[in-house]
Amino acid sequence: MRSAEFYQLLESRKSIRKYKPDAVPPEVLERILMAGMQAPSGKNRQNWRFFVVTGAKRDEYLKYSQKSWLGIKDVLAKKLKPSLYQFTERFFYTLGDAPVIIFAYSHNDNEERYHTSIGSVYMAVENMNLACLVEGLGCCTMGAPLEIKSEVDKFLGIDQLEEYKKGELELLCALVCGYPDHSPPKAPRQLDGRVTWL
Ligand SMILES: Cc1cc2nc3c(=O)[nH]c(=O)nc-3n(C[C@H](O)[C@H](O)[C@H](O)COP(=O)(O)O)c2cc1C
Repeated sequence: MRSAEFYQLLESRKSIRKYKPDAVPPEVLERILMAGMQAPSGKNRQNWRFFVVTGAKRDEYLKYSQKSWLGIKDVLAKKLKPSLYQFTERFFYTLGDAPVIIFAYSHNDNEERYHTSIGSVYMAVENMNLACLVEGLGCCTMGAPLEIKSEVDKFLGIDQLEEYKKGELELLCALVCGYPDHSPPKAPRQLDGRVTWL
């Protein structure tokens, strides 16, 4: 890939909130997960843990997504214009019909600082955002599940894992993905005050 194509790819990435119901083949999901795991990580601990949810379990998750909306809606009601607020509410109720949800956890232990552990997982998630693009998929990274973190841990059965019992597993975000069924405008970037050259 030439550099111009790479920068064009970055620019074309947008969060997708409306999907076709078509299933994503497992081999495509494998490639996306592998792309995530190409990311750098603090001390190369590769402390990401991914839990992939599809089918009936994905349908069951919708009631949790709806619950997570309750913790967010008041802030968004003040920020968004009514049509966008309604669209976002619908997204939380349906996840835009996305057939796949990948929950990203970090495994935090004393061998690596907390913040670099968290950062490593988000680097993997960004790789996965870009891999979705090249696979013709769309995705949306969601922090909303953190509103109901311990309920999500139980729903996924993570609370039964030894690492979780030791307090080492932490939910960071969900990545919903599928084949895009809309093409929203690119969210504008604000450059003021973001970079300081010394
Ligand atoms: C850590 C993180 C958490 C996010 N959480 C949500 C979310 O809960 N719901 C949602 O609709 N979008 C969520 N987003 C997507 C952002 O709203 C989106 O990235 C931002 O508005 C810029 O738009 P773009 O991704 O289309 O460039 C999240 C993004 C990140 C990186």
